[in-house]
Amino acid sequence: MAPLRSLLLLSLAAFLFTSCRADPDPLQDFCVADFQTGITIDGFPCKPASNVVSDDFFFGGLAVAGNTNNMFGSNITAGNVQSFPGLNTLGLSMNRGDFAPGGVNPLHSHPRASEIVFVVKGELLVGFISTANVFYSKVLKAGESFIIPRGLVHFQYNTGKENAVAITAFDSQLPGVVLAPLTLFGSKPVIPIDVLTKTFQVDASVIQLLMSKFGQATSPYN
Ligand SMILES: *[C@@H]1O[C@H](CO)[C@@H](O)[C@H](O)[C@H]1NC(C)=O
Repeated sequence: MAPLRSLLLLSLAAFLFTSCRADPDPLQDFCVADFQTGITIDGFPCKPASNVVSDDFFFGGLAVAGNTNNMFGSNITAGNVQSFPGLNTLGLSMNRGDFAPGGVNPLHSHPRASEIVFVVKGELLVGFISTANVFYSKVLKAGESFIIPRGLVHFQYNTGKENAVAITAFDSQLPGVVLAPLTLFGSKPVIPIDVLTKTFQVDASVIQLLMSKFGQATSPYN
């Protein structure tokens, strides 16, 4: 084979095998997270295999509806490595979203994962914005799914008259969440107001209004 062609094939293979996955591959069957060691690494150290029990691979949290009685009308129960230590090193996790009518999981992004949204009950408008600034969206009914590519800003909004429930799956044990309103107007300490007025091209009073709403706001993520 011509050297150039093999080089091209090799780079294509390298691209496919490196960039189409999120978390790194595990090096053993499992590595149940041990939060007690005090050792800080990328991920979490493993509990000794001799102490691992079936319950380390079980999580009942997604069976329970979150309380949507908050400013966003939504509640996200996170089944990530922090609540479900058996996920450590396995590169996946799953959340449950509960939405009151008109409730929203506000504009946010996950820096470490792509996401599949699967609607279990009700009706949700799900949308994301690409880096080319194109808005892609769809109203989903029970049983239907939508993809959110990794890192892109997106939301879920209950367009139905009843409560909606969605299950979301991620290719990371800890996708991370950057919630736009809390990041921009609720950081501690706050972003300098001049940066925000210049960024959004509005008066300081508008920024102060937004800060008053989101300075103390709690994330819908649990
Ligand atoms: C989400 O629901 C849980 C369980 O009911 C509750 O403890 C938590 O406070 C709720 N979070 C928000 C932001 O409402």
